[in-house]
Amino acid sequence: MKSLDVVITAKGMDLIEDQLSARLSVHRLWLEPNPDLWLAEWGPRTRAIAMTGGHARIDEPYMRQFPNLEVISSFGVGYDNIDAKAAARLGVIVTNTPGVLDDEVADTTIGLMIMTVRQLPQSEQYLRAGEWTAKGNFPLSPSLRGRTVGIFGLGRIGKAIAKRIDAFGLPIAYHSRHAQPDVPYRYYASLVEMAKAVDILIVIAPGGPATHHIINAEVLEALGPDGVLINVARGSLVDEKALIEALRNKTILAAGLDVFEHEPSVPQELIALANTVLLPHVGSASVKTRRAMAQCVIDNVLAWGDGKPPLTPVPETPWQGRWGRGG
Ligand code: NAP
Ligand code: 8YV
Repeated sequence: MKSLDVVITAKGMDLIEDQLSARLSVHRLWLEPNPDLWLAEWGPRTRAIAMTGGHARIDEPYMRQFPNLEVISSFGVGYDNIDAKAAARLGVIVTNTPGVLDDEVADTTIGLMIMTVRQLPQSEQYLRAGEWTAKGNFPLSPSLRGRTVGIFGLGRIGKAIAKRIDAFGLPIAYHSRHAQPDVPYRYYASLVEMAKAVDILIVIAPGGPATHHIINAEVLEALGPDGVLINVARGSLVDEKALIEALRNKTILAAGLDVFEHEPSVPQELIALANTVLLPHVGSASVKTRRAMAQCVIDNVLAWGDGKPPLTPVPETPWQGRWGRGG
């Protein structure tokens, strides 16, 4: 019997629709011609929401449309688009997809870092535009050699990045709210002090109010004229206006960005600059890793449907042996 009514919010990977609909009653919200009418009838019956990507805001009013909601299974490890504290108050468990994408995102970060420092996209463009034959060799680029790398957010992905940078023979420092005694890298309690001490600043901490615009003019000034910013976290961590200013004025050398404040919109000023490398949020975007993320979304919902604990609840909505409404 298909006991659990689950809403899929937007069209995503078929894998999620196929596996969930094989076992549960699935509602595809994007196909509903009259969402208000649908909500009036089905909102109270919905116990689970499965997300398929994107960063649509899931706030308290949204959750209240589903008064018997029990679980939101989110696609992605970052869940800054979901008000998880409101979910906790409402007794709704939020799950994410930690761990399965660490290596993929770390690989992307290393690629982006090398592309940005060694100006590889610019040099490829030079070749494609016929400038190699017309003008001679591409100008010499800056180097990774002799640089120190600062990682802002030494969590699961931050550590996978550090492991790779270690192999490159570059010294590593990190900043987060807590020092980790078991890691061999230098800890900075102050982000600005770390930015002063490093030549590459990699941002891989969560988005949300605590980190909003934390990479501001002061941090960029501290990073300095030879400094390179790599952001693979969320666009909201970086004050984009301050960054554009810093790149234009050569306050910093260059930036490599996988994420932006208002995706998929990217400021024309960033696109026009020669000292940026810009990617369309592809950190985890390989077929293999996206499948693993989708499977995690599915497995959380199926576990819940089977009356089992959620597999990967976020810290704000921990599994405490029962569902928050006292069930
Ligand atoms: P994680 O394991 O939870 O690590 C987060 C790290 O950030 C921790 O070291 C934490 O340390 C630090 N941190 C958290 N809040 C902080 C704050 N307010 N100030 C300073 N440091 C803070 O997370 P993860 O799995 O590595 O993922 C990190 C983020 O990467 C995600 O939240 C997501 O937004 C982003 N991401 C992007 C992509 C992409 O495609 N570009 C893909 C995956 C993930 P403390 O607790 O000690 O502060
Ligand atoms: C995904 C991500 O691109 O996991 C995350 O936090 O940013 C990426 O892996 C995104 O969540 C898909 O919407």
